[in-house]
Amino acid sequence: MFRGKLAQDAARIQGHFDLVLGALDDLDVTRAMAYATEGGKRLRGFLVLESARLHGVGEDRAIWPAVGIEALHAYSLVHDDLPCMDDDDLRRGRPTVHVKWDQGTAVLAGDALQTLAFELCVRAEVGTAEIRAELALTLAKASGAQGMVLGQALDIAAETAAVPLTLNEITHLQAGKTGALIEWSACAGARLAQVDPEPLRQYAQALGLAFQIADDILDVEGDAEKAGKRLQKDAQAGKATFVSLLGLDAAKDRAAELIDQACTALDGYGPSAETLKDAARFVIARDR
Ligand code: IPE
Ligand code: IPE
Ligand code: MG
Ligand code: MG
Ligand code: MG
Repeated sequence: MFRGKLAQDAARIQGHFDLVLGALDDLDVTRAMAYATEGGKRLRGFLVLESARLHGVGEDRAIWPAVGIEALHAYSLVHDDLPCMDDDDLRRGRPTVHVKWDQGTAVLAGDALQTLAFELCVRAEVGTAEIRAELALTLAKASGAQGMVLGQALDIAAETAAVPLTLNEITHLQAGKTGALIEWSACAGARLAQVDPEPLRQYAQALGLAFQIADDILDVEGDAEKAGKRLQKDAQAGKATFVSLLGLDAAKDRAAELIDQACTALDGYGPSAETLKDAARFVIARDR
């Protein structure tokens, strides 16, 4: 049921990517951009669309920030996979961009996907100038040195740290690395409707952390065929994760607690928030 809804939104997002990227000059970098956007779960884009539906905001407006956040996420993965970062050769079941093309193309495709994300968020269809500026400002903060990039930097630094990170430090790292974009996505619907995003922020903070814990658990005991990426790499690379600190069982318990917290944060919305609660349950039940 939930997977069907997610698949429907994923198809809508893909259709818009085809439209936007198909209009660019046919070059290695634009082919690499299109390639990098294909095949993801589209959870972040789904959160934008669903939080918009929760506030009665039409898909004609919300689809653009939904595609935008997926472009930004795709950029983060292209760069995350580079030899100077996680050095991965497989993503979403296919060779990574720098393997299929080369590192220069991967860096540039990532750069262009990042700027495309902002272009899509400020398209005229999205809303008033004030709404579009707010989306762009908050996306800049979520993506950069206070958000995703901060988390990625802490992640890389932790590989060579002399002492293991504490639980608080890992929580801070993951809140940036994965949490910030998930939080932005879930809050987008409230921002499009110009209402207080606080309940959605609380939902997303718990969800984002649970999402990364699930990713770390998948790395240990997932099926690489289903996940579409190389697994069992975190321990080898000396990554600091909830699993490395707490072990598998306690990490699973923590993820389940966080999903309960995420659902409780939405109680004020009543039954219309049921799909977002299903999304939270999906996050820790997924196999990819
Ligand atoms: C993977 O994100 C990277 C992390 C932030 C853990 P997803 O698991 O959402 O990847 P796709 O988009 O579905 O491939
Ligand atoms: C990636 O985290 C997070 C970002 C790209 C911001 P991981 O390095 O754990 O993601 P995977 O496991 O490669 O998908
Ligand atoms: Mg990484
Ligand atoms: Mg990685
Ligand atoms: Mg991972």
